[in-house]
Amino acid sequence: MPRVTYVNGTYVPHHEATVHVEDRGYQFADAVYEVLAVIGGRLCHLDQHLDRLEHSLSALSIGAPVSRRVLSLIMARVVRLNRFTDGMLYLQISRGVAPRNHTFPADTLPSLVVSAWPHNGPSAEQVEQGVAVTTLPDQRWKRPDIKTVGLLPNVLARQSAKEAGAYEAWLVNGSGFITEGSATNAFIVARDGTLLTHPADTGVLSGVTRGNVLALARHLGLDVAERAFTVAEALTAREAFLTGTTVTVLPVTRIDGKPVGEGRPGPVTMNLRTLYQELRRK
Ligand code: PDD
Repeated sequence: MPRVTYVNGTYVPHHEATVHVEDRGYQFADAVYEVLAVIGGRLCHLDQHLDRLEHSLSALSIGAPVSRRVLSLIMARVVRLNRFTDGMLYLQISRGVAPRNHTFPADTLPSLVVSAWPHNGPSAEQVEQGVAVTTLPDQRWKRPDIKTVGLLPNVLARQSAKEAGAYEAWLVNGSGFITEGSATNAFIVARDGTLLTHPADTGVLSGVTRGNVLALARHLGLDVAERAFTVAEALTAREAFLTGTTVTVLPVTRIDGKPVGEGRPGPVTMNLRTLYQELRRK
């Protein structure tokens, strides 16, 4: 099925979907993005993603190129035109095209790109056995709560993890706390049974999955604390997992080569995974 992508007002065959060389997203990473899951042809947690998009845009004083309603219609149309039921949708808004100059251009329209593709999530083996993570220094700027396309530190961390035979890099800040993964949020079930993840301050991306998993855990009556944890705490945790739109809840069974708990996906993790998958299907 040929892919169709939206670029600044038109729906074009994916291979013709291009932006100008002086797009500020391309030259300065002066752009923000969102990745949404499409399940059964519907966009999951649309409002939560649009709320976060508005947070990112306003933090950078980038104007919305279209209203929230029109953006939702464009996204739904991209999903329909690509004719798949389960997949991912990517949207990016840059400050627009202008002669290269660091200061904001006057009277430039922001660029909007929306693409989508079929996607099945992690493999059965990754879910059944869990994945490995490596810990690395968090070398990002101080505002990872803004979902910008300036992802070079994330890319380098993910590549290092891959070269070390791991699935994800868990990023460690200057105080020795794990902030999050390169493209996922990090959770542990600590020794005392408390579910821990870094608070949603300016030091991490406030993941949509993170927020929904926390709400689900509280609803189930689990002990939950939004508190940063150290590498040592992670290494002695009962369970660990990561969350994100592309993976939902994915067990972590090795950290820096050492097994987490028994080295198998834990019961809290797998319960949250099952319930969260059901929630998304609804
Ligand atoms: N990544 N942390 C970071 C740094 C991320 O880039 C992401 C999302 C998350 C998880 O957020 P959410 O649950 O809203 O997907 C956490 C997207 C999917 C990406 O860059 O591909």
